[in-house]
Amino acid sequence: MLETEICQMKMRNPTALAAGVLGSTAASLNWAARSGAGAVVTKSFGTEPNKGYPNPTTVEVEGGIINAIGLSNPGVESIQAELKKLEGNVPQIASVYGSTPEEFASVASQVENLVDALELNVSCPHAMEGCGASIGQDPELTHQFVKAVKKKVDIPVIAKLTPNVTDIVEIAQAAESAGADALTLINSLGPGMRIDLETAHPILSNRFGGMSGPAIKPIALRCVYQTYQNVKIPIIGVGGVTNHQDLVEFLYSGARCVQIGTAVMYHGLEVFQEIATGLEKFMNEKNYQTVEEMVGLAHQ
Ligand SMILES: Cc1cc2nc3c(=O)[nH]c(=O)nc-3n(C[C@H](O)[C@H](O)[C@H](O)COP(=O)(O)O)c2cc1C
Repeated sequence: MLETEICQMKMRNPTALAAGVLGSTAASLNWAARSGAGAVVTKSFGTEPNKGYPNPTTVEVEGGIINAIGLSNPGVESIQAELKKLEGNVPQIASVYGSTPEEFASVASQVENLVDALELNVSCPHAMEGCGASIGQDPELTHQFVKAVKKKVDIPVIAKLTPNVTDIVEIAQAAESAGADALTLINSLGPGMRIDLETAHPILSNRFGGMSGPAIKPIALRCVYQTYQNVKIPIIGVGGVTNHQDLVEFLYSGARCVQIGTAVMYHGLEVFQEIATGLEKFMNEKNYQTVEEMVGLAHQ
């Protein structure tokens, strides 16, 4: 009843671990899968190890958190070793980044045989110059980067987009026309900031960071809704999902499944099973037989 499919990957329920939250090691990815996630996405990684920004890298705000981790990761070689240890009982998606189309394609091809799909992080709002949202804010760059990866790999390529643009549809269509097999909407919102009252300094070492959690859900939903009307490829929704009601809203707006990040930090990995159980109850009450029939209902 809860099964869904994205890019021919079968998911037992429409929830997935979002990139960046607990996804740096095989142990944590396997744990998420064992806890009920329908799929898992790794932390974004690039060619070389990257220390990211010094602490503090996260700060709480009303309705969520702001983070500026700076894409810290151990680099593709270490990640390869972790990916080999994945249990493989749910679809495994590797999130990759790079500063040129060639770098992106090279990282992608180095893990192609170890995962079921790739998610291209062209949307990090606090990445080093050239690696993040600057790609996903420009339709031509988005097209170039997606195309380069598509040319190099045979597994499905999912483009993860930033909401920090004037027109998300334009970017989504650029990714689709470059051959993206699916879209993930959205990466964190912003950038935003908080200032310490005692020191009068910005709290995050990078000063600015991307916002996530319940407060960004309305924007994520709108991005999914608008994009659904204008592309043919499937959409994965992400942003503020905390309970099954949030998931249902994303399905209605046009997403085939959701990813969950901040809620895992607040509520633990149990959140996947809780949401799946809640969804099943909701579907029984409303007489839905499949997740599929709920997708896009808000467009009637
Ligand atoms: C601590 C933290 C680290 C993140 N790291 C990544 C990352 O490495 N790559 C990426 O594409 N998104 C990253 N994200 C963004 C999430 O995958 C997700 O798009 C965003 O947080 C919105 O979902 P949420 O409200 O469920 O957290 C990160 C988010 C958080 C909170």
